[in-house]
Amino acid sequence: MKISGTKDHKNGRDRKRQYRQAVFGTAVFLMALMLTACMSEKREASETEDAAQETMVIGFSQLGNESDWRIANTESMEDTFTEEAGYELLMDDARQSQEKQIAAIRNFILREVDYIVLAPVVVSGWEEVLAEARDAGVPLIVMDRRVETEDDSLYTAWVGSDMKAEGERAVQWLEEYLKEQGREEEEISIVHIQGSLNSSAQLGRTAGLDEGLAAHRNWKLAARECGEFTQAKAYEVMRDILKVTRKVDVVYCENDNEAFGVMEALDEAGLTYGKDGDVILISFDATEAGLTACMEGLINLNVECNPLHGPRVEKIISMLEAGETPPKESYVEETVFEPEMLTEELI
Ligand code: AHR
Repeated sequence: MKISGTKDHKNGRDRKRQYRQAVFGTAVFLMALMLTACMSEKREASETEDAAQETMVIGFSQLGNESDWRIANTESMEDTFTEEAGYELLMDDARQSQEKQIAAIRNFILREVDYIVLAPVVVSGWEEVLAEARDAGVPLIVMDRRVETEDDSLYTAWVGSDMKAEGERAVQWLEEYLKEQGREEEEISIVHIQGSLNSSAQLGRTAGLDEGLAAHRNWKLAARECGEFTQAKAYEVMRDILKVTRKVDVVYCENDNEAFGVMEALDEAGLTYGKDGDVILISFDATEAGLTACMEGLINLNVECNPLHGPRVEKIISMLEAGETPPKESYVEETVFEPEMLTEELI
């Protein structure tokens, strides 16, 4: 009995010990589980925090979608400011409206973006909204076209093309080309298709041509109309011009899309153009389609306007992030193309 009593007692103690061990084990297991869950929750939270801290938000007010150049410019921004590179790009297409651009900038300020990039549709009327961005402490980078302000502290930096120099390059080329052809004394009738009025691209290229007209008594302005940087509008205005005069020696188109519209109108009127034609065709941008037309001899001169500003804007932002001062103005180096210079590989 005793023995069996001792045995029962021992069995009871063993069971109790086993029970205590099981309870303790479960408690340790549950605590470990809770600890792991807690740590992973914490890790996730800090990862989200890090990601939020690392993502830089860029508000981009693009003026529109009017030309091949503009599409390439937008793509350059989208290809640069990617999620993988640590950015969130908020793009707003203003469809050629300054009012929409102003509203987009105000919206970016409210959303507390890190930087604002503005491709301005026109040069004037920006003071108020730029001051709002500056006062809110949001650095604003102007890209491509320019803004005209008396106070240049209203924006942080500008990067783009020297549109007047582009016009001057075209005029200098025309002067030499006519000389080579022995036509320097001949009366030269020029049709001018302008880009969107009051944009720095139009103002600069128009100023270049105006200087050329002033310097050559024999260059005559036969017509000047706005083609809005689009093929459709340029076709329309050129078609109407050709109803009034067919004496056209040169058409000065302020971008490639306009040149295509002009070609359509010249084709319809039965006039030849380009390297082997009667009308000298000058264009700006040097887009892929424009250069191809130039290589084929349809455009006599294509003046480069480089749209790939995404990496240039990013460089400015990197400098600012590093506490450096980027140049207030950065001009892109550009050139001109004639048919003989072009190959498919180059394009
Ligand atoms: O501001 C650049 C000009 O705008 C380009 O020449 C034209 O194609 C574009 O729309």
